[in-house]
Amino acid sequence: LRIAVLFGGRSAEHDVSVLSATNVMRALEPAKYDVVPVFITREGQWLLSGFEGGALAKPESGTEICLVPGGQGRVVAIPGDGAAPHELPRIDILFPVLHGLHGEDGSVQGLAQVARVPLVGCGILGSATAIDKDIAKRLLSEAGLPVARSVTIHQGAAPALVELERELGLPLFIKPARQGSSVGVRKVHASQEFDIALAEGFDHDSKLLAEEFIEGREIECGVLEDTQGGLFVSRPGEIVPAQSHGFYSYDAKYIDENGAVLKVPAELPDAVESRIRAMAAQAFRALGCDGMARVDFFVTPDMRILINELNTIPGFTDISMYSKAMAASGVSYPEIIDRLVAHGLA
Ligand code: DAL
Ligand code: MG
Repeated sequence: LRIAVLFGGRSAEHDVSVLSATNVMRALEPAKYDVVPVFITREGQWLLSGFEGGALAKPESGTEICLVPGGQGRVVAIPGDGAAPHELPRIDILFPVLHGLHGEDGSVQGLAQVARVPLVGCGILGSATAIDKDIAKRLLSEAGLPVARSVTIHQGAAPALVELERELGLPLFIKPARQGSSVGVRKVHASQEFDIALAEGFDHDSKLLAEEFIEGREIECGVLEDTQGGLFVSRPGEIVPAQSHGFYSYDAKYIDENGAVLKVPAELPDAVESRIRAMAAQAFRALGCDGMARVDFFVTPDMRILINELNTIPGFTDISMYSKAMAASGVSYPEIIDRLVAHGLA
């Protein structure tokens, strides 16, 4: 089976995608899969990559890869040296290991559909709803699922902090609506931090969320759909960010080796765990997801459960929860890949 793994990409999570894809490459068993790694540059060019010595190549130039619209996996290679374009063997399935905009947001998923190529993971609708925290929260609320209170802020129309404080209290979070890995997220305690947080947020998106601070634990569950449409929900895991980081920021995730500790499975009363797993499946359905997602929760000291967000291409890095939570539930890393591919081909 010929599988094209897309990685890198135009989003702020480019580097995270490289880490995720490296692990995915290691888990793709050569006996089963003929893998074509495709590196997407920060500018958005698709270049043929390679995988040697456990590392993915990130070429700056070279052979460009084009999916033929309607071509059912036909791929044209355009050599960088001016040689004539030529067709490569057809690919059977596309595996976008891309995080954030232009990859996890429905765009590549739409491209796969236009090209008539099977796709690993979530399709257009669920990807597009989950990437946008403003839209996602409205759909989750409409489904009766509890979320943190928030106010949506559009560029040029930011309310004063006192107004937000009245509604959400302090501290509060300012988050870009369509970013992952906590890129551009800031905790605001007072007005001097507010302007900085808005400026940084708007660097990443034209729409932000001001969100109430939830004093609680960060709990995450993996969801994996089978070929019949049934949902397997993993046991929940817990992320304990180091006190020094204050919250599970980009640095706590990927820069500081001691930024956070993962506890899998999370220590929770059985009834709470069951409730979380049921809510993960409901949230997955509410956003129109299919294939896979990781559902992130807050659990307060009095065991109030809130949904934070869904990630339709969750991190597959060494420190990522999805594969760890699945492993704790009896699904190994290669098994996740096999099930995702089977789902995509079904
Ligand atoms: N957005 C990052 C990759 C995650 O959700 O794991
Ligand atoms: Mg996210």
